[in-house]
Amino acid sequence: MSINWYPGHMKKATDEIRQKLSLVDLCCEIRDARIPSSSANEALRLLTAKKKHIILLNKKDMADAKETEKWIQALQQKGQTALAINAVHERPAKALYDLAATLLAEEQSKRKEQSRINREIRLLVYGIPNSGKSTFINAMSGKRSAAVGDRPGFTKQQQWIKTDADLLLLDTPGILPKKLTERQSLFLACTGAIRDDILPLQDIGYWLLELLLTLAPKAVTDRYSLAENEGERETLGVMESIARYTGSLLRGGEIDYTRTAAILLDDFRKLRFGRITLESAPIAQKDEE
Ligand code: G4P
Repeated sequence: MSINWYPGHMKKATDEIRQKLSLVDLCCEIRDARIPSSSANEALRLLTAKKKHIILLNKKDMADAKETEKWIQALQQKGQTALAINAVHERPAKALYDLAATLLAEEQSKRKEQSRINREIRLLVYGIPNSGKSTFINAMSGKRSAAVGDRPGFTKQQQWIKTDADLLLLDTPGILPKKLTERQSLFLACTGAIRDDILPLQDIGYWLLELLLTLAPKAVTDRYSLAENEGERETLGVMESIARYTGSLLRGGEIDYTRTAAILLDDFRKLRFGRITLESAPIAQKDEE
């Protein structure tokens, strides 16, 4: 099953990005460090392919630090440049400027040779909704009070944003890929990037629990006071134990899977299982000898 959606405002936003591309030196894609692959927008990547890119793995405070490091290495191996950030608590203007300047070294020296004015570096910032793009933009511009949590397609009009390094940012509305695989949708639903009602909530909760039982079984058994070996049981059985522990039962004592799923999702999003990266980094290829 794949989920296909492309409301009109998404098309409009894509067109806007296409038009603005000629104004920028490079692109900056914001992804969620907990799902570095599923939070990418491949279509925008293709649309902006002529420009050099920096991938910002945002929400690093919510992801497993070792996994984030592995992801950065894996992306580097593919010739991509990535930086992990926490947009809520950091203003990585200098680090971003340095990375951008390194990537643009050739263009900058050509510019100098032609004795053109050494102007600031211009970056187009894009990312899927909920990746933290507004938070990042606000942090970089110093306007911490500006509204975040914009709904997809309704981000403020495109405008240049000044930062305290020699960087200008061009914001874009958050855009989801046109087509989402079921797997990608589930990852995006777990992190709250797409609404919980896009897929049945109990399916999202079941999928999340299955992942957690592989990635952090002890965190699950501790959270719901389950027997130590409970984490080794099949997912449905564990879900039922969690339902009983959390009182998620329907009249007549039947399991309320929807409520159990909602509890699991809330606990994951509020870091009650600790910092977890749901999508593991691809195994690094050994360099050929
Ligand atoms: P967007 O523009 O890409 O759609 O995302 P936005 O900045 O609105 O951020 C989405 C949510 O993610 C916000 O939480 C924001 O505070 C949070 N967030 C952004 N960057 C980080 C980060 O680096 N670390 C952490 N921990 N959180 C971050 P929210 O307003 O509570 O929304 P929600 O989580 O309830 O959807």
